[in-house]
Amino acid sequence: MCGICGIVGVPNAARLVLQGLRSLEYRGYDSCGVAWLDGALHAKKAVGGVDNLRLDGPAHETAALGHTRWATHGNVTQENAHPHLDCGGDVAVVHNGVLLNYETLRDALTTQGHTFRSQTDSEVLAHLWESHAGADGLERLRRLVQQLKGTFSIAILDRTEAALYVAKERNPLWVGATKTASFLASDPVALKPHLPAATPLEDGDHARLTPGRIDLFDAAGRPVQRTAQPLAGLDDRIDKAGYEHFMLKEIHETPASLNRILSAHVTIEPPHVDLHLPDAFLAKAQRVLFLGAGTSFHAGLLGAQFVRRLARLPADAQTSPEYKDATSVPEKGTLVVLLSQSGETLDTLQALHRIESLGPPLLALTNFPKSSIGRKADHVLELRTGVEVGVAATKTFLSQSLLVYLLALALARQRGTVGDAALLQAATELKRFSRAIDRVLFRTAEAGQLARELSRFDHVFLLAKDLLLPAAFEGALKLKEIAYLHAEAYAAGELKHGPFALLEKSTAVVFLLAPGAHEASLRNSLHEVHARGAPTFVIAMDGAQDPGPLATHTLWVPAAPFDLQPLVFSTALHLVSYWVAKARALPIDRPRNLAKSVTVE
Ligand code: AGP
Repeated sequence: MCGICGIVGVPNAARLVLQGLRSLEYRGYDSCGVAWLDGALHAKKAVGGVDNLRLDGPAHETAALGHTRWATHGNVTQENAHPHLDCGGDVAVVHNGVLLNYETLRDALTTQGHTFRSQTDSEVLAHLWESHAGADGLERLRRLVQQLKGTFSIAILDRTEAALYVAKERNPLWVGATKTASFLASDPVALKPHLPAATPLEDGDHARLTPGRIDLFDAAGRPVQRTAQPLAGLDDRIDKAGYEHFMLKEIHETPASLNRILSAHVTIEPPHVDLHLPDAFLAKAQRVLFLGAGTSFHAGLLGAQFVRRLARLPADAQTSPEYKDATSVPEKGTLVVLLSQSGETLDTLQALHRIESLGPPLLALTNFPKSSIGRKADHVLELRTGVEVGVAATKTFLSQSLLVYLLALALARQRGTVGDAALLQAATELKRFSRAIDRVLFRTAEAGQLARELSRFDHVFLLAKDLLLPAAFEGALKLKEIAYLHAEAYAAGELKHGPFALLEKSTAVVFLLAPGAHEASLRNSLHEVHARGAPTFVIAMDGAQDPGPLATHTLWVPAAPFDLQPLVFSTALHLVSYWVAKARALPIDRPRNLAKSVTVE
């Protein structure tokens, strides 16, 4: 979502802030801006990416603060881009989050004589700061924060004090210092070029940053020290490695990510799945609840199916934007699994906040163990994909899918519902599984052919059964997200209970056809759709009966064991979505209106 970066105590600070913003802008990219101090306070803003912000002339500034925006309140315009200045031009403010009471605050400030230049909720922060003039900076900050309702990470550059101030509530913020300079950012990746370690702030924390010094306080105003996290292992390679798009590169990185997980958690001799979790942690689980949003929710759907089938435990998946506002709570004995690639998705964080006081065991599956969600959980399973820059989650979905399968196997082992022979077979299949994904990727040209035909349609149904249904949901989300197709996934048998009315020549239907128990039923649906004249696109797994003329177009994917089939189909659908978006000449890595990490409600 929005990115924040600030520096005090370094010559050339504004240019360095722009570098920091470049490493964050894939998370929010509609507009940007930077403010800096060289005695006076200056600001420059632009619509679009950081490359549109050119700083000319000598660089005398030693403090600067910048922002990349993902619009919530107010259109994408230069006026609405951050930083926002107060009336007197003494302070520049950037904000990530949503201020729920901004209209009341703005009305009161307007009555006091403040002039607003933007339609954003964030601008009230600059005027509130101004309204508390006369007080010491930290006192001003506390008074300001007390007036806010909502979620925020805030950074303030004050000209009169030549200092930066920050406050955090439900949105991420990191700080760190050298002997002569201090730094802040919404994501530690922007701090890595400057610091060996940085400190994540907790909710309620607020601080003053001056050159080489950070005065940090908790919600009660007590001085506090937080544990700094090393940044060395952080993947900051924002590099397409020769691919035209990050998304295609990241799809191709899937086998390597899966192999990293398998090396860490699976052995064949002896056959074992070791998630490095205390035995008692899993032993307590009498049921499992998976929570996540978007693609992470789809991995949760898959996880719930795995747990029910393999460990024979009740399991459910809920979408976190709904669950955060629901009234139901996890039953006693529920293991709550939080799925979030970024670890910063506010809906998932809010769902966690709603239930954490009940004390359910919390397991996070994330790419960032030190993220807000990772830090709240009792234990973390790491996705091990390296940074994912494309807004579409691809390799991270495959890692989540593999980890929820391993979790189900571990629970099943502990409960004795999977025996030695079955575990040996599963471990052996897992160890060679990434080759199946490699073979899907070899078929990228064939996926491209199917995609080019599919790209002519505006309405698409995806049909599947059982374990492949979450893969169909995932494919539909990707077709919407990056190819701007209206795509809906259905359990195959469900289509004739209503949506059949939409079948005509201009509605494409994609089938996920695997050999085995559900093949006959899916072929039956294929017949029914074909008979109504709708074009049929079949993604068929080797071993299934050739759909022949029932299919307008067939894409074959390599065979895989039953439990791993969703991963094969998901990879194929990621590729197909990529090529549909490419055929439609769309901005694949930065689809309109979206952001990589959704840190607002
Ligand atoms: C996936 O392609 C999407 N960009 C989106 O649905 C994403 O999965 C969702 O916002 C959740 O993100 P998280 O995994 O970082 O929590």
